[in-house]
Amino acid sequence: MKIAIAGTGYVGLVTGVCLAEHGHTVVCVDVDKEKVERMRQGISPIYEKGLDELMKKNQDRLSFTTDFSGAYRDAEVIFIGVGTPEKRDGSANLKYVYEVAEQIAASVEQDCVVVIKSTVPIGTNDKLEVFLREHLIHSVNIFVASNPEFLAQGTAVRDTLYPSRIVIGTEMKAVEEVLMRVYEGFDAPVLVTNRKSAEMIKYASNDFLALKISYINEIANLCELVGADIEDVAAGMGYDERIGSKFLHAGIGYGGSCFPKDTKALHWLANFHDYEMKTVKAAIEVNDHQKLRLIKKARKYYKELKGLTVAVLGLTFKPGTDDLREAPSLVNIPILLDEECRIQAWDPVGEEKFQERFPEGIEYYETPEEALEKADLCLIFTEWNEVKTLSPQCYQTHMRHPIVLDGRNCYRPEIFQGTDVIYDSVGRGACGKE
Ligand code: UGA
Repeated sequence: MKIAIAGTGYVGLVTGVCLAEHGHTVVCVDVDKEKVERMRQGISPIYEKGLDELMKKNQDRLSFTTDFSGAYRDAEVIFIGVGTPEKRDGSANLKYVYEVAEQIAASVEQDCVVVIKSTVPIGTNDKLEVFLREHLIHSVNIFVASNPEFLAQGTAVRDTLYPSRIVIGTEMKAVEEVLMRVYEGFDAPVLVTNRKSAEMIKYASNDFLALKISYINEIANLCELVGADIEDVAAGMGYDERIGSKFLHAGIGYGGSCFPKDTKALHWLANFHDYEMKTVKAAIEVNDHQKLRLIKKARKYYKELKGLTVAVLGLTFKPGTDDLREAPSLVNIPILLDEECRIQAWDPVGEEKFQERFPEGIEYYETPEEALEKADLCLIFTEWNEVKTLSPQCYQTHMRHPIVLDGRNCYRPEIFQGTDVIYDSVGRGACGKE
């Protein structure tokens, strides 16, 4: 099929590449000329496992352009995968969705289905269809369908090629059939529902996962107070299939471009309808506090942080991505800078973007070991493999005062027994020399 994709961020680009892999002819549209040029050379603008290879492999069926009218003119299906960032009040900003819609309406010269992949507030698909029809230049039939995306960063290609489910939101059989053709080669359960339910499935799923994380983080905080071990507690809970073992990793809170934004957007939407989503509100509040958990712990070991040399391992919101959005590092490092700490940071891919935001005051190192050199405190924000494989001896050898505060529970505390390292993580007792 002839498919156009609006937006080459995580959702748009990965969708485009994976649809090309499934044999469709795909043109990806973006306003950024330089980005388009790089993608034409087979260079992905995002760090995502397997993406460059698939871009190169499918280059005969996959093109990139800034010429939106040429791309949309005769596409059978146009996917919208642009960002829906958070506005100041927490609601979703649909500016980019509507900008693209205007371009589509001005360009299409044959009947087509516009599919919204971006996460949009409930009711947006209905409104966008009206908008498109009002702005059409040529006399064609245009339909809008919802098809939310469930990919996670770091596993985006795998999640798209082998999705947990394909949700199709449309009230029209003909539109459903078009989308079934798009996904013909995919092996996944398909749920066809109305557009509003499809939009809600996306928010309800993300917010549920955010809630699950905040819940386990609160249980972890309580475990510390009563002397229980969160890893064992989570394992014990996870055996129950009704609960499931995934997303029960306690830590310093969720970040990324989705959970923080989507929890606030749903909470805002409920308020707009004069309803308060108390559970979602609690998940947001717990997460905000959780992000500061390590700094709070640090004050247990040092009355004053002023002047300390602090090793920071991991800057991104999770491993496998260079994305910093809503990463715990972003709220903690400014506090350390205010306290006049000397910051020695390591991250395998997040450094460049972090440096753009914080051009001064941080020293970056090639290896975790170098970042640990003569440090008084180590804060682990991201569970990169390179961190998970460090030995207790490594902390002991390199740090001046080996106090390790682990926000991602990278190690079993017992391994620090008998060493000089003080190891304190989330939801488990501190271990090591007092
Ligand atoms: C999330 C969802 O997992 C995807 O299903 C969804 O499609 C995507 O948002 C989206 O809406 O686009 P993502 O934000 O890429 O994906 O990353 P996750 O792997 O879900 O992690 C989000 C945050 O939660 C990370 O900071 C991670 O460290 C944290 N997390 C995750 C925990 O603290 N504990 C856990 O058990 C799991």
